[in-house]
Amino acid sequence: MKVAILGAGAMGESVISHLKETPGVEAILAQDIRPERIPELEKLEVEATTDLDRVLKDDNLPLVFITSSNFAHHDLAMAALAAGKAVMCEKPMATTIADAREMVEESERRGLFFQIGFELRYSKLYTKIKEWAEAGLLGDIVNTHCYYGSSAWNKGIWRNSAELSGAMFGEKLSHYVDLPRWWIGSEVTEVYAASAPNIVPYMEVHDNYHATYRFANGAVSHLTFMMGQAATFRGDPLQNVIDQQLGDGHSLGYTVVGTKGAAEIAVFGRHMRRWEYGDESDTMTSDWVDDLTWDPAEDHLYYHNTLSQTQDIVRRVAEGLPPMTPARDAFDTMRLCFAAEQSAETGRVVKLEEVV
Ligand SMILES: NC(=O)c1ccc[n+]([C@@H]2O[C@H](COP(=O)([O-])OP(=O)(O)OC[C@H]3O[C@@H](n4cnc5c(N)ncnc54)[C@H](O)[C@@H]3O)[C@@H](O)[C@H]2O)c1
Repeated sequence: MKVAILGAGAMGESVISHLKETPGVEAILAQDIRPERIPELEKLEVEATTDLDRVLKDDNLPLVFITSSNFAHHDLAMAALAAGKAVMCEKPMATTIADAREMVEESERRGLFFQIGFELRYSKLYTKIKEWAEAGLLGDIVNTHCYYGSSAWNKGIWRNSAELSGAMFGEKLSHYVDLPRWWIGSEVTEVYAASAPNIVPYMEVHDNYHATYRFANGAVSHLTFMMGQAATFRGDPLQNVIDQQLGDGHSLGYTVVGTKGAAEIAVFGRHMRRWEYGDESDTMTSDWVDDLTWDPAEDHLYYHNTLSQTQDIVRRVAEGLPPMTPARDAFDTMRLCFAAEQSAETGRVVKLEEVV
């Protein structure tokens, strides 16, 4: 199969490297709007072009990966769907809810494959929680907490602008609200998010939140996010990213509490643990029953598993199968992201039914 990348920056380069390890991929065509990207992409030993039509009019190219900046997702996806392509589009689906809805509706109307890049649903850390939940080991998940401390983004990039990125929830936090939705298996009905004045002075989007959301089945989730304290990540290529960020102020973890047990993930500590509840005459007991870790060489399978996601998407398109996560499901995560931003702006609880 011949596959194209639309908008081939840093993420596009990752997908190119994954496609090179994907059975059934015979050729890769990378497209980017910036002419100066072309020689850089050619160094990766792929065909490269600035001409979108060259991709869209190629009848032997059934699948495109959209890894452009967020502000271009909608137009590129609509053009690719109109050309009859199967589409994988990075999160966030779009920078506005109206654009995201139009993309989902267009894929459904045309009956075309359309998957959004929530690769954490392929990552072993998080599929393990889903397995434990489905095996009944956690009972009903009633409460989850995600805490995330990160360093500042660089100055002058599109991510800092709400108009270009669609704001922080879509660009960065969408993964971390998608997971509780997936684990709990119920829809969010309302969200309250509060942001203090920004920590990073040049960011146009909020850089800190406490967000709480309630599900239709009564469960609640909370997300704490702050930029600033974590040491500036200078990307030493000789060191593993997780090792480099461990103990330097970066933090990312989850607590997942159910009616029969609980689980905890410490991403930078490469640990996940599980507890099982019991009943004794004087108390409800909790026993620590699982303690899992992994080899650093497997970080990519446990953390951001874009390799398995890319390979699964190619296989599904080749075999005529639907996306692993229906676009409607990803759209509901996008609704939650826009609701959280609305709440942080207005200071009120936002009902999900208002965000359509
Ligand atoms: N799933 C994840 O964990 C994850 C991680 C990183 C980035 N991403 C997503 O990947 C996307 C790209 O992020 P990045 O870090 O690679 O950004 P980047 O700035 O490095 O690359 C974006 C590229 O898109 C190109 N582009 C912009 N408008 C275009 C258009 N109209 N047509 C063609 N090309 C266009 C730019 O020239 C640039 O090369 C974003 O949507 C981001 O949210 C996802």
